[in-house]
Amino acid sequence: MVQISALRLLRRPGTRGVSLLEYSTPRHYSSAPLRARDDARDARAFFTTPIFYVNAAPHIGHLYSALLADALCRHRRLRVPSAAATRFSTGTDEHGLKIQQAAAAAGLAPTELCDRVSAQFQQLFREAGISSTDFIRTTEVRHRIAVQHFWGLLKARGLLYKGLYEGWYCASEECFLPEAKVTRQPSSSGNSCPVSLESGHPVVWTKEENYIFRLSQFREPLQQWLRGDPQAITPEPFHHAVLQWLEEELPDLSVSRRSSHLHWGIPVPGDDSQTIYVWLDALVNYLTVIGYPNAEFKSWWPTTSHIIGKDILKFHAIYWPALLLGAGMSPPHRIYVHSHWTVCGQKMSKSLGNVVDPRTCLDRYTVDGFRYFLLRQGVPNWDCDYYDEKVVKLLDSELADALGGLLNRCTANRINPSGTYPVFCTTCFPSEPGLVGPSVRAQAEDYALVNAVATLPKQVADHYDNFQIYKALEAVSSCVRQTNGFVQRHAPWKLNWESPVDAPWLGTVLHVALECLRVFGTLLQPVTPSLADKLLSRLGVSATERGLGELCFLPRFYGHPCPFEGRRLGPETGLLFPRLDQSRAWLVKAHRT
Ligand code: MSP
Repeated sequence: MVQISALRLLRRPGTRGVSLLEYSTPRHYSSAPLRARDDARDARAFFTTPIFYVNAAPHIGHLYSALLADALCRHRRLRVPSAAATRFSTGTDEHGLKIQQAAAAAGLAPTELCDRVSAQFQQLFREAGISSTDFIRTTEVRHRIAVQHFWGLLKARGLLYKGLYEGWYCASEECFLPEAKVTRQPSSSGNSCPVSLESGHPVVWTKEENYIFRLSQFREPLQQWLRGDPQAITPEPFHHAVLQWLEEELPDLSVSRRSSHLHWGIPVPGDDSQTIYVWLDALVNYLTVIGYPNAEFKSWWPTTSHIIGKDILKFHAIYWPALLLGAGMSPPHRIYVHSHWTVCGQKMSKSLGNVVDPRTCLDRYTVDGFRYFLLRQGVPNWDCDYYDEKVVKLLDSELADALGGLLNRCTANRINPSGTYPVFCTTCFPSEPGLVGPSVRAQAEDYALVNAVATLPKQVADHYDNFQIYKALEAVSSCVRQTNGFVQRHAPWKLNWESPVDAPWLGTVLHVALECLRVFGTLLQPVTPSLADKLLSRLGVSATERGLGELCFLPRFYGHPCPFEGRRLGPETGLLFPRLDQSRAWLVKAHRT
């Protein structure tokens, strides 16, 4: 018999992350399309969200995890459009003590609870435009086969043994906690009860004979992996934190529970008295969805990027890579980590009654509006606080006023009566800054704008590579502001189409603004797909002209033909994004009560 104490955890932040894909460095004012390195263009990519517990209905934190993965995946598809090149999985985590207890508390059979809540996640993700290619439920047969096969490999490689495991088990977190992570809380009966320091959920002293995984053998291989690949975990502070954890003791890990205690799970092959630990079961979902144990999985596995919240970093960055190495596979290619949403400064929880329902938010703010809000305001490195006024303020100013207003200014009938993409005049806006002449109208700030928008796709791609999607949106938003400044500066409404002096410059101002809008629309597709579609359709940009490879900004400025010049704009379909503050009676009401 072996006596094992539970894991100790430590978290420490560090510095910033780095880019994953290399791009050709853009020249000053370059209009070169954004292309990933040729070898990377053909490479496959596999994105995953965590699989979600079905003990309670989805909240905005869950949606945020899925949206981050969705935006990364959609951005990748814009770079490498082949439908077969990208896979994206999500799903529900349905086994374990937490679900077994939640079902019992609700008076339901576990399968009933799983069916019900898994359907809620599926519906939410459909409504929110999560473009996953697979939704896995861990109760599926294909998954049981994968988990039992994986278990068999670990067993055959001598990495599992039976031993006595004891420690504080937290059902809510589904893991053993070290003594330092347990505190006493007074209960209603006057006695104190042990709870998890982090989550406040009860812990129970557990001592049983389990199968144990030789995790301790993997400390050095894990350190080597992380030291050899500084971008493995992004943003960098999380990479640093995992390396710090690995400086600590790394005890072996219990990977099964007595079936009499935990019946809701996958039985250990050949030993029905034990049920496989729910985290081992859950992590293998990433292999199940790419066909494991069939050979097909081998070509996808090396391209895997996991998107996870910081609370499950230890499971993904220590246990999972160790299990993979144990089974003869490589650790995941990338682990992208995000922080949490709080509500009015507090952790979101059912017991505090402050859980924000994502479906209400999608209804109130529209799908694109709410996607934009979460991804624009969510910062992976730190927790973010949610409140309704913040959503209204952001969406009104950035989507309704700045972006919608810009589109309206350049396409409205009174300013653009022909309803076409006007011609760019190279004598009004020569490619050399500083030229003087009677017809030159462009000013220094206008060259700054062209430079900013020409380099925007590369900047955005770098931010995606560094998992800083909010910075990508910040960069777009700043260029939108600059473009509004450009239009304001040249006041096209004061110019006259009938005047031979005004007309070429009027056309040029509108052409430049529409070209900027085309870049913004293209770059916003991963975050606000419908709004970007509406914008690009209004500009007359066809479906085959929306990829990053085709994105040649302002080609006439660089001496190339422009396919859009003279083209009819798409039909007028109303405001791009209606202001919310005019329709927010619900918000005022909510504040009065
Ligand atoms: N089932 C495990 C994951 C297994 S993956 C092999 C799990 N599920 S969860 O439903 O609790 O969490 C799923 C994801 O939602 C995690 O990435 C978690 O970080 C994220 N979030 C849960 N609450 C959150 C917030 N309040 N804010 C942001 N994301 C949060 O863990």
